[in-house]
Amino acid sequence: MSNIEWDSQTYAKQFSFVAGYGSSLIDLLDRKENMTCLDLGCGNGNLTKKLKDAGLDVIGMDDSASQIQKAMEDHPDIRFVQGNACDFLLEEPVDVVFSNAVFHWIDKDRQKDMLSCVYRALKPEGQLVFEMGGKGNNALIHGNLRRAFARRGLVYRFPFYFPSIGEYASLMEGAGFLVRTALLFDRKTRLMGPDGLSDWIKMFVQTPFEGIDAATSEEIRREAVEELRPKLFEEGVWYADYVRLRCRAVKML
Ligand code: BEZ
Repeated sequence: MSNIEWDSQTYAKQFSFVAGYGSSLIDLLDRKENMTCLDLGCGNGNLTKKLKDAGLDVIGMDDSASQIQKAMEDHPDIRFVQGNACDFLLEEPVDVVFSNAVFHWIDKDRQKDMLSCVYRALKPEGQLVFEMGGKGNNALIHGNLRRAFARRGLVYRFPFYFPSIGEYASLMEGAGFLVRTALLFDRKTRLMGPDGLSDWIKMFVQTPFEGIDAATSEEIRREAVEELRPKLFEEGVWYADYVRLRCRAVKML
């Protein structure tokens, strides 16, 4: 949605767990008949399809042209539009704004704009249901990368926003929502392949490496991965130390 150039092919092949885990987020919805829904930051549309299969009348929106193109190719029966989460206006308000693994990509100082757009996009009493990285998300991975940068005199520019329940609930209340459910929990997440952690870093941690030559970047990644091996590699499988923040909030009048 922001802060990254998505490689939609690799993402679909290697990181399908993002949509997989998102399926259970659908259960957080307070379901009614004939609900309209916006899947905000829909990516390749795989979870949008699950929302449709669950009976929602859904539109997918994403800022990435390549992800929207892939979503339209893979799911021709669903409407997808390109749009920025911090600056969009729907033709018609919806019952639900749903979002999985997107809000942490939006800078902290743009979260208010994003929540205002979501509020405007909802019907009265409409629901915002989302999951994002919560406080402490990937703390081991980022901690090791930060130290590998520091050893070379380099600053690790942290590109994510991983709030606590208290912090994010305040933002939502400030935007006019009533927070009905908020959960923060660990979810150790299995990565694919023998280079799972290195591939994950290449895919998702791009901003801190901007301006650093390819050889140094590779050296930093290798160093961090080896230091993380005792904690995140178990019986031949790499894991990432995810912490999830899940919420359901209702638009108050
Ligand atoms: C997440 O889903 O928490 C996440 C994924 C990639 C980078 C940062 C956070």
